[in-house]
Amino acid sequence: MKISVDRVISRLEEIYECGRQADGTHARVAYSPEDQRGRKVFADYFGSLGIPVRQDEAGNLIAYIEGEEELPSILIGSHLDTVIDGGKYDGALGCVAGLEVAETLKRAGRKLRHPLEVVVFTDEEGIRFGNGMFGSAAFCQVPMEELSEEDMDIYGRTRGEVLKEYGVVLKDAIRAERMPETVHCMLELHVEQGKILEDHQKPLGVVSSIAGVRRYEVTLTGEANHSGSTQMRHRKDALVGAAGLISSLPGIVREHGNEFSVATVGYIQAWPNAVNVIPGMCRFQLEIRDQEESVMDRLESLIHDRLEENCRKEGLDFSMRLYDAHVPGNMNAELKETIQSVCEAGQIDYEILPSGAFHDSLLLCGRFPTGMIFIPSIGGISHSPMEKSGREDIERGCQVLLDTVLRLDKKEGQIS
Ligand code: GLV
Ligand code: MN
Ligand code: MN
Repeated sequence: MKISVDRVISRLEEIYECGRQADGTHARVAYSPEDQRGRKVFADYFGSLGIPVRQDEAGNLIAYIEGEEELPSILIGSHLDTVIDGGKYDGALGCVAGLEVAETLKRAGRKLRHPLEVVVFTDEEGIRFGNGMFGSAAFCQVPMEELSEEDMDIYGRTRGEVLKEYGVVLKDAIRAERMPETVHCMLELHVEQGKILEDHQKPLGVVSSIAGVRRYEVTLTGEANHSGSTQMRHRKDALVGAAGLISSLPGIVREHGNEFSVATVGYIQAWPNAVNVIPGMCRFQLEIRDQEESVMDRLESLIHDRLEENCRKEGLDFSMRLYDAHVPGNMNAELKETIQSVCEAGQIDYEILPSGAFHDSLLLCGRFPTGMIFIPSIGGISHSPMEKSGREDIERGCQVLLDTVLRLDKKEGQIS
């Protein structure tokens, strides 16, 4: 049974176009009208195949295809929301690949023993409220009590208001819980978003683990004052303190982390943000990621100490508040072996590699046997309109996904 790469590519294009912005960029930021349009187009593909799609209490879209037997389901899932000015593949590939598996089976008249469910998880990227994987967190009962209806998004709208447009009520999202015994396994196909496969000239990756992530809101407070008349020795410049810390991050991580450790400041605000006023306050979001918790602990403490030292020198007060944290996750060993044996049968060269990006699978792997397949990202670029993967790699990834599903469907009993 062969998947159709033409179908996959034309659907990726069509969903991408749902995010076209007035300035020519593309984005389907979670909960936005563009995101909703993409989800509608996606659900309609299933509709035209006569496959029902429902939305659960957390806004996850779930297409359900009955199995021959009363067995737990095989899940294929990813996300359709994107970053601002994003690309065509991050998330969408995994969803469209799930649809392609369902459609290929349907066209071949082949029914699986297990039910097959294709899931689009809500708000994986976390662009609006700063914490991602909303839908998979609810699915997996990851505690959500720190989320509030009053949380403000980057556009100044509350979580309650935004969720309402999606038909979701925050306090009910937890009812999207999925019991482990109802799931045979979960599979996600994704673009690598890094350069390991390309550098090693491997056409496919079998994911071993997904990096944990910690996010902090850092606030530095100094004194706003006149930029012309305040001599350098009298200043308490919050932005200078922030800049010092940010520029020290690469050195701290290189010296005390490992090859996969990363620290990033990607969002920063300064007040009053005027050309002739010394910044009195600066706030930024800091992120640390690693495959090992102990490394994240070490980096957190070193960064905190450096911040304290910089602020002392600059006469600033500061706070560093952890607002989102996920431990690293391991993919299921039996699923990894199954994907590897599918590759070996098809003479596909592969690499076993960790994921630096997070995915819904980071939460799902804590509750269900979960496996991830990567295809190469050209130039290792992602979270960018330049994101691209080759046609052959897309075809190979989708075919390995289908063949893995067929093998796992034959498996009797639980995946250990
Ligand atoms: C999601 O793509 C992330 O890793 O931030
Ligand atoms: Mn993604
Ligand atoms: Mn992403």
